Amino acid sequence: MSAAAERTPTVLNPMVAFEGVTKHFGGAKGQPAFTALAGVDYVVPRGSITGIIGRSGAGKSTLIRLVNGLEIPSSGKVLVDGVDVGALDDAALRALRREVGMIFQHFNLLSSRTVHDNIALPLEIAGLDRKTIDQRVRPLMDLVGLSDKADRYPAELSGGQKQRVGIARALATEPKLLLSDEATSALDPETTQSILELLKTINRDLGLTVLLITHEMEVVKTIASQVAVIDRGLIVEHGRTFDVFTAPKHETTQALLSASIGAKLPEWIRSDLKAEPSPGDRRSCG
Ligand SMILES: Nc1ncnc2c1ncn2[C@@H]1O[C@H](COP(=O)(O)OP(=O)(O)OP(=O)(O)O)[C@@H](O)[C@H]1O
Ligand SMILES: [Mg+2]
Repeated sequence: MSAAAERTPTVLNPMVAFEGVTKHFGGAKGQPAFTALAGVDYVVPRGSITGIIGRSGAGKSTLIRLVNGLEIPSSGKVLVDGVDVGALDDAALRALRREVGMIFQHFNLLSSRTVHDNIALPLEIAGLDRKTIDQRVRPLMDLVGLSDKADRYPAELSGGQKQRVGIARALATEPKLLLSDEATSALDPETTQSILELLKTINRDLGLTVLLITHEMEVVKTIASQVAVIDRGLIVEHGRTFDVFTAPKHETTQALLSASIGAKLPEWIRSDLKAEPSPGDRRSCG
């Protein structure tokens, strides 16, 4: 295990800090504004894998998009490695985005580019020469297990392989933070596990901080050391993953947990549960 992984994450010097963050959408021409984030205070420890979990519409994507400046807070601050993202000019924002990689549910690959050239894209944008780019891309293809697919196009890849390209591309600029927005939600359970294993390896071997958002408890349970639960734009519970999972306090956490346990039951038990007659049902009398 590397020194970076052995270090206990410290919140004294967090990789990301949300300080009283609100985000409102709309509100122009007298229309009421919609509050997506209602005042978030939270820190992501350096070197950790941190999960943020919540239902659809809870504000997860909005929260993560503030970290690389795709959204700007309505009030409050988002600090990445101590730097206030909302205060950056365009050049500084471009530099920040090289230090913050992101992967997505639908991979966002360019269909007209090969695996190699998709991974190379951020390096081309950064203005590196072909030889340097190639020297960076080859080990990344090794890391994600796609060296034999360098000249393939996205349409020729499985979902898991496409996400591996997405991960390699996100790592190309050697970021210190990797953001994941539902990166495994489009994958089957087995492929999900293999992608989560890859993220664990990257965290351990490269010392990268990983911030992932998901609606799947199973994902958090598999890789995150700490978790925050977001509900209607507020963090309603947070702590070490083990503690939150074994003694969930907030009803949203409890509901997400029981949904995930229900989803894991075999189909014959689930259909049996559904078939259970309710009181007053005529069939229950006979
Ligand atoms: N650009 C926007 N304009 C208006 N409303 C928005 C915008 N972006 C997000 N919202 C609203 O903010 C709320 C939170 O959205 P967000 O995408 O952060 O949710 P989420 O937790 O990521 O949901 P999901 O799990 O479905 O991806 C939603 O009600 C959404 O409709
Ligand atoms: Mg989302």
